[in-house]
Amino acid sequence: MAADSPPPPGAAADWTVPQAWDSYTPAEHAMWDRLFARQSAMLPGRVTPAFLDGLDVLRMTRPGIPNFEELNDRLMQRTGWQVVAAPGLVPDAVFFDHLANRRFVAGRFIRTPEQIDYLEEPDIFHDVFGHVPLLAHPVFADYMQAYGQGGLRSLGFGALHKLARLYWYTVEFGLIREDGGLRLYGAGIVSSFGESKFALDDPSPNRIGFDLKRLMRTKYRIDDYQQSYFVIDSFDDLLRQTMETDFAPLYAELEDSDDLEPDALLPDDRVITRGTQAYALAKAAE
Ligand SMILES: [Fe+2]
Repeated sequence: MAADSPPPPGAAADWTVPQAWDSYTPAEHAMWDRLFARQSAMLPGRVTPAFLDGLDVLRMTRPGIPNFEELNDRLMQRTGWQVVAAPGLVPDAVFFDHLANRRFVAGRFIRTPEQIDYLEEPDIFHDVFGHVPLLAHPVFADYMQAYGQGGLRSLGFGALHKLARLYWYTVEFGLIREDGGLRLYGAGIVSSFGESKFALDDPSPNRIGFDLKRLMRTKYRIDDYQQSYFVIDSFDDLLRQTMETDFAPLYAELEDSDDLEPDALLPDDRVITRGTQAYALAKAAE
């Protein structure tokens, strides 16, 4: 979307719209409850405990689609973050500006029963169930803001597609090593019934120790489960590396390196699981 696109009719200058919580139908609330029940049965023991703590302190375990006003009261007290609704995807500069100011942009529509396992545009279940619990974690909350600030700077370097990979492989599809095992934290995984099993248990994907420069060379799949996941050692380490890296010379260096395919493994990788790629190969042969 062009950076200078005007907001759509009915949206504010920053592209936000009211959530209009009163307009959700009983069927829409029931859809949330169905998705919530399915994921919360699956996630304990698989997701980082910080995610479950977030669900709890934000009282997201109550039935029905969360009302952003109530959610924001608790989130503001906790970390100073807010959730704002937008009518669809917003321009990158607008998205980064919201993050840099501790506002997370969420869709307000919810998928239909026919779309339960696949939808093209993120809905409120992905955006709110997937992303918001970790915004109650102080370190992850700071990381999201740092990402937004880095995003605004990246626009001046024409390096957005490189930085977008950092968001993709952490915020959306990240794994973390905790208590001697791997746990999920990426919103794209934790909001997906299939991928919350696949990312952790399936022998197909690679699982590689986090390396910022390596990760920013790596292309990703937008149409199916990831072929590689990157594993962070802690949220503190992720935040520290993001804050301490001088991205300008890194972007310049990356200009001279080839992009890597999503399934690539390099001799220097900290390989945690060498994936068979059986899933992706079977899909490609269909
Ligand atoms: Fe997302």
